[in-house]
Amino acid sequence: MQGGRTGLAAAALLLLAAAAWAGPPRRYEPISPIPAPPPENPARVALGRQLFLDPLLSRDGSVSCGSCHNLAMAGIDGLAHAIGIGGAEEPVNTPTVYNAALNLAQFWDGRADSLEEQAGGPVTNPREMGSRWPEVIARLEHSPYRAAFQRIDGGPPTPRRVEEAIASFERTLLTPDSPFDRWLKGDDSAISPEAAQGYALFKSYGCSSCHQGANVGGNMFQRFGFYGHPLSQPPHPADLGRYAITGQPDDRYVFKVPSLRLAVLTPPYFHDGSVPDLATAIRLMGRYQLGRAIPDGDITLIIRFLDTLPGNMTADDGGPRP
Ligand code: HEC
Ligand code: HEC
Repeated sequence: MQGGRTGLAAAALLLLAAAAWAGPPRRYEPISPIPAPPPENPARVALGRQLFLDPLLSRDGSVSCGSCHNLAMAGIDGLAHAIGIGGAEEPVNTPTVYNAALNLAQFWDGRADSLEEQAGGPVTNPREMGSRWPEVIARLEHSPYRAAFQRIDGGPPTPRRVEEAIASFERTLLTPDSPFDRWLKGDDSAISPEAAQGYALFKSYGCSSCHQGANVGGNMFQRFGFYGHPLSQPPHPADLGRYAITGQPDDRYVFKVPSLRLAVLTPPYFHDGSVPDLATAIRLMGRYQLGRAIPDGDITLIIRFLDTLPGNMTADDGGPRP
């Protein structure tokens, strides 16, 4: 009894001490911490990782998802425009797969509603992996994958099961525990005073009216160019954004607001990969999205803030295969 009470008192003291060190969480902010990943079947996640990294999904065995979304390179290829099978060039820049699960839709123009729907796209895209499903399924049928699908899904590989496995894996690709998230949770010392100043500027300039939520973006569609026109005329079809899907004139140049979680690690910038450095991207955002000239000093502080956004990316750069 006595011991129990002492134990309780000690636990209460510890809690108090932790609270004093950490401070209260910051609740009413436009950005929230990366959530915990949803529960997934670990065997399906492992299968999805293997498929993600396997060039077997491409027509000639030369390209995997990971060729363009290099997990050791923050989930991108570092190119302005992705290069797929046989050297074919994509018209747009490769976004990261990290935290993609948090986006309201996939692709720059949001044409896929879910990760499952997205995952099938590259396999049959002639500029990415150039395969046809019947060939992919035949290759999987004659490989150790058949047994893995049987074990996990109780049946043979199908396009849907491939997409589900890859999507399960992608849902684990979150980047939690960034310095900024620790700061949001109350750890005042997690970011520098300059980074905190940069965050204040990010809010006061109005960046957070579009880049917000857990992914610091990815939760709305907005026009690229409110004040003047940033894109060359006549535009490339890929510059038209959601117009390509809806055909609505108002959707011209409307894109999914990209996540800034890993922005410091993922140059070049914009859907067309046209801007090699972050300072220029921020200057253009000020000019075309906010109608303001942002002084260099403020841009530097905003970058200090963006530096605190990447979190733990180690979850899936290796480890055992199924
Ligand atoms: C040739 C390079 C290439 C390959 C291979 C490739 N991707 Fe992509 N990925 C891209 C490009 C480019 C985009 C953007 C396309 C667009 O928005 O129109 C993209 C977009 C995505 C997105 C959406 C991210 C977002 O924020 O909108 C996800 C998720 C994704 N790819 C996963 C995959 C998976 C899974 C595979 C394998 C089945 C794969 N990719 C294969 C280049 C590639
Ligand atoms: C009105 C909405 C809006 C506002 C305000 C806004 N942005 Fe953006 N931002 C976008 C959209 C849309 C894109 C995608 C443009 C494209 O590539 O076509 C984007 C792209 C970016 C990119 C490039 C990301 C990448 O991965 O390519 C950065 C960096 C960025 N914004 C930072 C900022 C900063 C910093 C501010 C404040 C100074 C800001 N944005 C204000 C909507 C906005």
